[in-house]
Amino acid sequence: MVETLLDVYRNDTDGLKLHLAPVDLVKIAEDVATTLMELAASRRVHLSFNYGTSDFRNHLWVNADALQIQRVFANLLTNAINHSPRGGIVKIILETGSSYQVVKVIDTGPGIKPEERSNLFQRFYQGQSDRQAKGSGLGLYLTRQIIEAHNGTIWSEDNIPGGAVFAFRLPVLPFQTAVHT
Ligand SMILES: Nc1ncnc2c1ncn2[C@@H]1O[C@H](COP(=O)(O)OP(=O)(O)O)[C@@H](O)[C@H]1O
Ligand SMILES: [Mg+2]
Repeated sequence: MVETLLDVYRNDTDGLKLHLAPVDLVKIAEDVATTLMELAASRRVHLSFNYGTSDFRNHLWVNADALQIQRVFANLLTNAINHSPRGGIVKIILETGSSYQVVKVIDTGPGIKPEERSNLFQRFYQGQSDRQAKGSGLGLYLTRQIIEAHNGTIWSEDNIPGGAVFAFRLPVLPFQTAVHT
């Protein structure tokens, strides 16, 4: 948590320094999910991958800092697992578009109150209902710093019939670049 605080502070003062390379979001999402299997199992939460309109596992190439993108997935998935009821499902949707790659993390927890939505990505913000969770309120703020440093956007949506949706999109890595590296 101290490390997160220092990173947030550094990013705010100096800007985030990115080590960019072609990165496959699917690979990173799967790697991070693997590291969270134990947490998910202990909460009886099932992680499920979905590749949008395609039935097949895709590659979602972006020009990104792999370590920072790992932190994005770790933050969103940890939040989703921690807010899930026993027996809940956390869905990770990975969709490729013409100019953006889109990732959604959907859970079956209590969701986000409309009046909370604009506060979520602010520094130190923690929901009222979160008293027993020992977070820092910095996860989503750091996550937004990382996504915006990559020229992406992050937002939250309502999940029907309930639960939270956190989504982000990142510019697609031009095909040429992916082939030559
Ligand atoms: N998946 C989720 N479902 C419901 N509320 C969430 C979810 N993820 C985040 N939140 C809300 O957003 C707040 C900020 O999240 P975050 O920045 O990760 O801080 P922390 O996890 O340390 O509390 C949380 O305290 C919680 O109220
Ligand atoms: Mg968090």
